[in-house]
Amino acid sequence: ESLDEFGHKLVLWYEAHHRALPWRQTSDPYRILVSETMLQQTRVETVIPYYHRFLERFPDISSLAAAEESDVLKLWQGLGYYSRARNLQRAAKAVCEQHGGEIPADAELVRALPGVGPYTTGAVMSIAFNQPVAAVDGNVLRVMARYLGIEEPIDEARVKLDIEKQVQQMVEGSVPRLFTQALMELGAVVCTPKRVQCLVCPVRDGCVATATGRTAELPRRKPK
Ligand code: ADE
Repeated sequence: ESLDEFGHKLVLWYEAHHRALPWRQTSDPYRILVSETMLQQTRVETVIPYYHRFLERFPDISSLAAAEESDVLKLWQGLGYYSRARNLQRAAKAVCEQHGGEIPADAELVRALPGVGPYTTGAVMSIAFNQPVAAVDGNVLRVMARYLGIEEPIDEARVKLDIEKQVQQMVEGSVPRLFTQALMELGAVVCTPKRVQCLVCPVRDGCVATATGRTAELPRRKPK
């Protein structure tokens, strides 16, 4: 099965079955940046009320840039990893000072914002701007290791790079905004770390781990 077919099946499934999460009702790059920053180390159900409160208080990037840091941190209280909140406000200030208050539709400029790594860059570029930039986090590595039957440890730099390259090819052959969210949704509700739901998986046919009964063994990690 080709990688384009994988993307096509995945997107059709996503369009029919995805959860209606609040950040899926918008393509405002600021809102996508806020949601992806919150979602990095925190579960979806926990993030939802924080996302609403945060955007009610800071509805646009200039209001966040102008805020007192203590107000920003107060709204983050309970989410943890406060450096995320500080960096998010620093990013808002940079966007206002350097880009006229609009998050630039340019992957290199987005990547240069404080606290924004390759994953968040891919998420913002694909979900907000529909540009083909891969967003690869731990969930995506797990899904791809199983689908492709990758036996090498996914925390090996070379292996990760190889997966990123393949995901980049797939996003280029698909609708980036849908593809990125679809891959994330598959990892969240079907191809989970434990208790995989292969019976309802849209890409089960091409999956090496399912065919060989190794969904529980993959992905592998380097021995400590
Ligand atoms: N985890 C990271 N990004 C996400 C998103 N956009 N939707 C659901 N879970 C996610």
